[in-house]
Amino acid sequence: MRTSPYYITTPIYYVNDSPHIGHAYTSLACDVVARFNRLDGRNVLFLTGTDEHGQKVEKSAAADGRPPKEFVDEVSGRFRDLTKLMNFSNDDFIRTTEARHIRSCQELWRRIAANKSPAGRENIYLDTYGGWYSVRDEAFYAESELVKDDNGVQVAPSGAPVEWVEEPSYFFRLGDWRDRLLEYYGAPGSNTVSPESRRNEVISFVEGELFDLSISRTSFNWGVPVPDDDAHIMYVWLDALTNYITAAGFPDEDSETYKTFWPADLHMVGKDILRFHTVYWPAFLMAAGLEPPKRVFAHGWWTNEGEKISKSLGNVIEPADIVARYGLDQVRYFLLREVPFGNDGDFSHRAMIGRINSELANDFGNLAQRVLSMINKNCGGKIPEPGALLEADEALLAAAHGLLGPVRTELAENHAFHEALSDIWVFVRLANGYVAGQEPWAHKKSDPERMATVLYVAAEAIRHLALLTQPFMPDSCAKMLDQLGVPADARDFSFFGPQGALAPGVELPPPSPVFPRFVDDEAED
Ligand code: MSP
Repeated sequence: MRTSPYYITTPIYYVNDSPHIGHAYTSLACDVVARFNRLDGRNVLFLTGTDEHGQKVEKSAAADGRPPKEFVDEVSGRFRDLTKLMNFSNDDFIRTTEARHIRSCQELWRRIAANKSPAGRENIYLDTYGGWYSVRDEAFYAESELVKDDNGVQVAPSGAPVEWVEEPSYFFRLGDWRDRLLEYYGAPGSNTVSPESRRNEVISFVEGELFDLSISRTSFNWGVPVPDDDAHIMYVWLDALTNYITAAGFPDEDSETYKTFWPADLHMVGKDILRFHTVYWPAFLMAAGLEPPKRVFAHGWWTNEGEKISKSLGNVIEPADIVARYGLDQVRYFLLREVPFGNDGDFSHRAMIGRINSELANDFGNLAQRVLSMINKNCGGKIPEPGALLEADEALLAAAHGLLGPVRTELAENHAFHEALSDIWVFVRLANGYVAGQEPWAHKKSDPERMATVLYVAAEAIRHLALLTQPFMPDSCAKMLDQLGVPADARDFSFFGPQGALAPGVELPPPSPVFPRFVDDEAED
């Protein structure tokens, strides 16, 4: 168990469109880390929300024929609904159109402007921006960064269209912060920016030509007004990134929340928004005299059956559809088990069904169902009283007790969800092997005490599995723990190990399968 507080954030989502699987993915990863840390005794603040300003959102509202505020209220609601659909345990949901956030942005701006850069210059100065802008990425690009698409047209490196923009703008002296940024990234192996390949990518960007950054716009007005100059609104990324300190209570730095949670322990992001979080954001914070986040982790992207996911290709995966089809916890498990976190991955129905049937229904589900049914039939529906333990029993229990340490490292430190799950499943198979090898059913008449011991040890194995997989599959594990008679207040990790052992004699409800097999009604053949 740990006690230190823990602050984790998702990116805030653009409200130009409905949520899809990519959005659910970033938040799911955070939810699992947040739940794990809570179970591990930490005081967690888990933040998500919506990014509601900027040209992209303004254009979407106009295309929908509605005033921006009315439009963002509705679309933001869909992201809030997603948190319920996916059973995310966020403690706060921030919207950048809220008064608390506008106040926080303006104060951050004032502080940056009031301080000098490391070169002793004004951090913010007024000039004219003449350059490329991509509304889709909400990003400025240098000419040298542009690439040609298949038709020979200049586009952003992401493939997004760019337009030439020329307007008065405030600039942030990003170039002056280079050395401080490099210092922040630390020595190789430090995990301020993870995975390592992303860290290298960021360092080479910062070591290159670091242009000053345009941080205000004048050609439209859907944004936070720049303090003392209403003709400008803040660049949407400066506005959006600030959400992380707004929710921590900024500018009230004396508040308990701020003192407890800032700097954030982890900003989880997709690889596409790495630069904003690891270059611009820490530079803004340092310029304002605030601490930068402890860590930024960038994950990969999902494709759908090998194709890039996009509205125009019509292959967007709606979280509600797959949850309705496969079950919520099944989807949560699949997304974090299928692909090494950090890599790109491909969504396929076949892979989803494969994992549901083999790993959830066969391996884990059957283990629980077999053991609980035997207890129900042969032990009067009560947790059996174990007799003397044999070597095989001791070995299985020791393996169960030893799981928390490695899973904590993989999940809470390295965010290698796939490895945590794969380790847990090694134990699922071990437990299945134990039950098959010890044949509790064969001792029913000849040695009921041995049967009771084996079923008790197997039930303990299931308890540990259910405790440990709660962050991934909260509802299913709750059901399993109910069926084991584990009280609701005995499910955190302080009960992991012998100190939380099942109490013999506790009456159990009749067992019912937690992970059914997926039968494909829609299969064409
Ligand atoms: N509004 C900005 C973030 C501001 S944070 C201060 C933004 N929003 S977004 O809605 O476009 O994307 C949010 C997250 O969804 C990003 O982390 C992005 O990587 C993730 N995904 C969007 N599509 C995705 C996939 N196809 N696969 C995995 N994640 C993807 O960027």
